[in-house]
Amino acid sequence: MAEIQIRNTGEVIHGEEEVRSFLASQDVLYEHWDTSKLPERLQGVCHLTDGDKEEVLATFDEDIRSLAERRGYQKWDVISLNNDTPDLDKLLKKFEQVHTHTEDEVRAITAGSGTFVIKGAETGYFDVNLTPGDVISVPVNIPHFFTLSEERQVVAVRLFIDPEGWVAHPFADPEFEGSK
Ligand SMILES: [Fe+2]
Repeated sequence: MAEIQIRNTGEVIHGEEEVRSFLASQDVLYEHWDTSKLPERLQGVCHLTDGDKEEVLATFDEDIRSLAERRGYQKWDVISLNNDTPDLDKLLKKFEQVHTHTEDEVRAITAGSGTFVIKGAETGYFDVNLTPGDVISVPVNIPHFFTLSEERQVVAVRLFIDPEGWVAHPFADPEFEGSK
């Protein structure tokens, strides 16, 4: 279950209702998938073969298609990051830059964990700490970035409207520098 921390105030928001209603107020989609549907050998596992990734997609096929139908996603895939990912530190450094996209960024965490840092309209930057089953979508043109948590591993399903056009536009923001 996701938990939120507002950087300026240190306020922590947890509990399903509270998290849902805060994210709804920020126009951030938040849903939950049942990760107990995964075969036992894949639960909590972030080192995946290509075959395992196909199995993750097959497990959540109904959830994926429901989301795609409602929100216009055309393509989806699975990514995994872990300590064996080449240049993980370099990759994280690249990730940890505030940016925007011209389509929304949707991620469903199926194992491991991670954090989206998002710029709220009135709250300033807030962290959304995600655990397995959490599904989130950062709206179009909202400054954000994604990073791993301390366990440094995650598996996520990504859905795209147009994978070709999904480009990160850097967003230099003095307000973010102040929120670190
Ligand atoms: Fe992004």
